[in-house]
Amino acid sequence: MKTQLQLPPKLIPVFATPSRYKGAFGGRGSGKTRTFAKMTAVYAYQRAMQGDSGVILCGREFMNSLEDSSLEEVKQAIRSEPFLNGFFEIGEKYVRSRDHKIAYVFAGLRYNLDSIKSKAKILLCWVDEAETVSESAWSKLIPTVRENNSEIWVTWNPEQRDSATNKRFRLSPPDNSIIVEMNYNDNPWFPDVLEQERLSDLKNLDMATYRWIWEGDYLEVSDAQIFRDKFITQEFEPQENWQGAYYGLDFGFAQDPTVAVKCWVYDSCLYIEQCAGKVNLELDDTANYLLERMAEMDKYIIRADSARPESISHLKRHGLPRIEPVKKWQGSVEDGIAHLKSYRKIIIHPKCTAVLNEFRLYSYKVDRLSGDILPIVVDAHNHYIDAIRYALNPLIQALGKAKQTPLRLY
Ligand SMILES: Nc1ncnc2c1ncn2[C@@H]1O[C@H](COP(=O)(O)OP(=O)(O)O)[C@@H](O)[C@H]1O
Ligand SMILES: [Mg+2]
Repeated sequence: MKTQLQLPPKLIPVFATPSRYKGAFGGRGSGKTRTFAKMTAVYAYQRAMQGDSGVILCGREFMNSLEDSSLEEVKQAIRSEPFLNGFFEIGEKYVRSRDHKIAYVFAGLRYNLDSIKSKAKILLCWVDEAETVSESAWSKLIPTVRENNSEIWVTWNPEQRDSATNKRFRLSPPDNSIIVEMNYNDNPWFPDVLEQERLSDLKNLDMATYRWIWEGDYLEVSDAQIFRDKFITQEFEPQENWQGAYYGLDFGFAQDPTVAVKCWVYDSCLYIEQCAGKVNLELDDTANYLLERMAEMDKYIIRADSARPESISHLKRHGLPRIEPVKKWQGSVEDGIAHLKSYRKIIIHPKCTAVLNEFRLYSYKVDRLSGDILPIVVDAHNHYIDAIRYALNPLIQALGKAKQTPLRLY
């Protein structure tokens, strides 16, 4: 191939060395996703030149919709290289070679793998965001990728030392593998927007959390995390005797997403079942966007940020008839936090990765000089958490009122 591909130097040996397993782990913004996405397309191109046909499988543990997949990254990578752009055909929901001999398939490993493996010749499987892929998904996937010369590529941001992915690919990597660590300082194209975020995290987050996000460290529970030992991630099915569903919505503006959540209460536990969110979501598209992800939402009361009355009345007339504003009061954030902490556990469904992320990152301010944890809530990583507070507002208000008026026992 004549074209010179631009790769971060640390990843050159990964792709230059023949090996069945290739991978990279490390912090945010290192160029892992972008590079691996591009190289899947280069790999497909090379296999096609050798006369092969089949599937490039891009897997995730869970995939509710194509939005949760690597589709956009793959499209972007292909468009960035003229020879790839000429070779592939890109549709809204698909990517395939122009002769249709090679196609990308995007799938959740937990639920969709069985249906794929009977059908397709998998030439390559790339799993991005692989930290949460379970041992059972790996042990099912690996024998499925069995074509001659097929490969398995893995990229992830480490979180738990004993996660299935970390054990398999970092602590005891398979023979025939080349797996490297990549952090933002290994990315020659680390963009300014991410540098701004990094600096803001360096200023606002405690060091353990900062190092987890940006330097690829395992995540340690920190005293600064507001919900540190309250939340767990676990699959569940809501039952008839649960209270709810409670829906909450937080409007976004500028770089903040508009987000919504669906939650339940049962046996002193709070369950977060579904979430949806998007940056730059137009008001006219909001109801459809949310209803595609939370089908029943229009039948329930949805509690929303009262700062945007005109948006609420628009949504009320266009698709979400029962939406209503939630009033704030002095201390409503702290009351909301106290209420959330009063649950025995907060159980987050693993498909709600964005919610889970906020629960990890939502923190008290830490004093830079002394390391003291201050009684100040950092106003960041709180879009879904705000939506949860709105959803539960009638339950929280009791707390606010109890503070304002002497407690009366009936
Ligand atoms: N080959 C490249 N050319 C141009 N920009 C790149 C390239 N690789 C990475 N970047 C920039 O770096 C950013 C972070 O890369 P990404 O692959 O998302 O990192 P990670 O997956 O490690 O978090 C991208 O959004 C992009 O702006
Ligand atoms: Mg990535």
